[in-house]
Amino acid sequence: MVNRNLHNVEMETLASLSKRRGFVFQSSEVYGGVGSVWDYGPVGVELKRNVKEAWWRSMVREREDIVGIDAAILMHSEVWAASGHVDSFSDPLVECRVCHRRFRADELDTPACAQCGGELTEPRQFNLMFETNMGPVKTSSSVTYLRPETAQGIFVNFVNVQSTSRKKLPFGIAQIGKSFRNEITPGNFTYRTREFEQMEMEYFCREGEDEELHRYWIEFSMDWYRGLGLRPGKLRVREHNADELPHYSKASADVEFEFPWGWGELETISNRTDFDLKAHAARSGKDLSYFDEERRERYVPFVVEPAMGADRSVLAFLADAYDAEGEGKERRVVLRFHPDIAPYELAVLPLSRNEKLAPTARRVHDAVRSLFRSQYDETQSIGRRYRRQDEIGTALCVTVDFDTVEKDDAVTIRNRDTMAQVRVPIERLPAAIEDQLDRMRRDCRA
Ligand code: GAP
Repeated sequence: MVNRNLHNVEMETLASLSKRRGFVFQSSEVYGGVGSVWDYGPVGVELKRNVKEAWWRSMVREREDIVGIDAAILMHSEVWAASGHVDSFSDPLVECRVCHRRFRADELDTPACAQCGGELTEPRQFNLMFETNMGPVKTSSSVTYLRPETAQGIFVNFVNVQSTSRKKLPFGIAQIGKSFRNEITPGNFTYRTREFEQMEMEYFCREGEDEELHRYWIEFSMDWYRGLGLRPGKLRVREHNADELPHYSKASADVEFEFPWGWGELETISNRTDFDLKAHAARSGKDLSYFDEERRERYVPFVVEPAMGADRSVLAFLADAYDAEGEGKERRVVLRFHPDIAPYELAVLPLSRNEKLAPTARRVHDAVRSLFRSQYDETQSIGRRYRRQDEIGTALCVTVDFDTVEKDDAVTIRNRDTMAQVRVPIERLPAAIEDQLDRMRRDCRA
């Protein structure tokens, strides 16, 4: 069992570690940066891919009732009129008459400007969709939008997917992809941004089964986060009040995580009823119903939607994994990721940059790199390399030393969490790594 210090990390600490170690960089930094858009670096992209992969595995690969799609970001502008986003996807915006800062009226603590105390304008509805034009000529009919949610690509493909996959209700369609919202008050690092990635699944069912399925998907999500190591005490479910429900929802609940600044939403699980399919059927004139062979009747299904943010999940995993121990020279920062999402499962390190060690270390790396997500690291002293690997959350370090080459053809495996080291023959290395990773997986869930 790992004894965690359970540090409450500050957001600035995470942001600076992210930059220093290659998790996240500000977009267009050389031009002074662009507001609330972020780029993932070499280590961050591995972490994010692992999180998305874990979601895809649990939603699509390991289930028979869910299939995936990858719809385009640009869609017919009628989609957004039918879905209600043109009319209803807006936040109330107020502006300070003195300093011209803008705020969301529903997030204000005081009736005056929080920046300079100036008088605020009356709220006006500000649509969050990014508008763009399709084709070479800008006219009112060329206007469309960058999608603000991936879900609509699923609804308009409902018949295509159902007829080609031959799925019977209840079944789901999952998708991971970019969404865009022109947020009035983005912030908190990658928590609220203008370009982000969503992991959404629409689970179609008969009316009457929707409420039980809503509860099922809330529990499923909580299990998913806990299974990947988020501490249970940092997670909670919050039901929406009637006045905060999205325009398409009969009931919604958020899975929230306790971020350094307080509780924040990771995911919303909504009961969208038959709102979207009916809206698209009405506007497009196409039949988007389902024929229930068992009941011998045709109807428009209901849908329950777990809608997760990939970037927010990554931020939660990052904040929860952060740990620091020791003081001064002994100080160690370590990201205690679940091994399934850690950027690297292992790193192979020659003890020093001695030419005697390199061929064996390369041979060891070649033996494991197709089996595990691994990195070869030979720059700087071994102590510094251990620190670096701890700071990016690499689960295990495999060290090749002079005994390996001259004596025993064995290597040392160092465990990130306990720093315990064991010596294993190279021929047994893959099995020994698997064994240690399994133990770390169990510890993460304990
Ligand atoms: N299809 C339903 C839907 O989009 P949502 O609650 O608006 O529901 C789902 O968004 C998830 O997408 C959120 O819980 C959050 O994790 C993520 N998300 C939404 N807006 C975001 C933003 N501006 N920046 C980062 N993530 C965002």
